[in-house]
Amino acid sequence: MTPHVVPPDRSVLQVLTEAGVEVDFSCREGTCGTCETDVLEATPDHRDPPLREDERAAGDTMLICVARSCGPRLVLGL
Ligand code: FES
Repeated sequence: MTPHVVPPDRSVLQVLTEAGVEVDFSCREGTCGTCETDVLEATPDHRDPPLREDERAAGDTMLICVARSCGPRLVLGL
């Protein structure tokens, strides 16, 4: 898949959907969990209420409608 740049004022979900990538989502607010996506590489910056603390600590999934990456590169299992 082609790499995409996520600017500070946009979500990963916004960038992917506008690029034509099919991803599941619903609320776009970090509450429903529909957009939860596997993280293959990077440390997520969780900004979402529904993930349990143990899920956050594992860092292997993120809600792409609200979460960001702590580093410059983020690899997702889409
Ligand atoms: S779309 Fe609902 S949590 Fe992301």
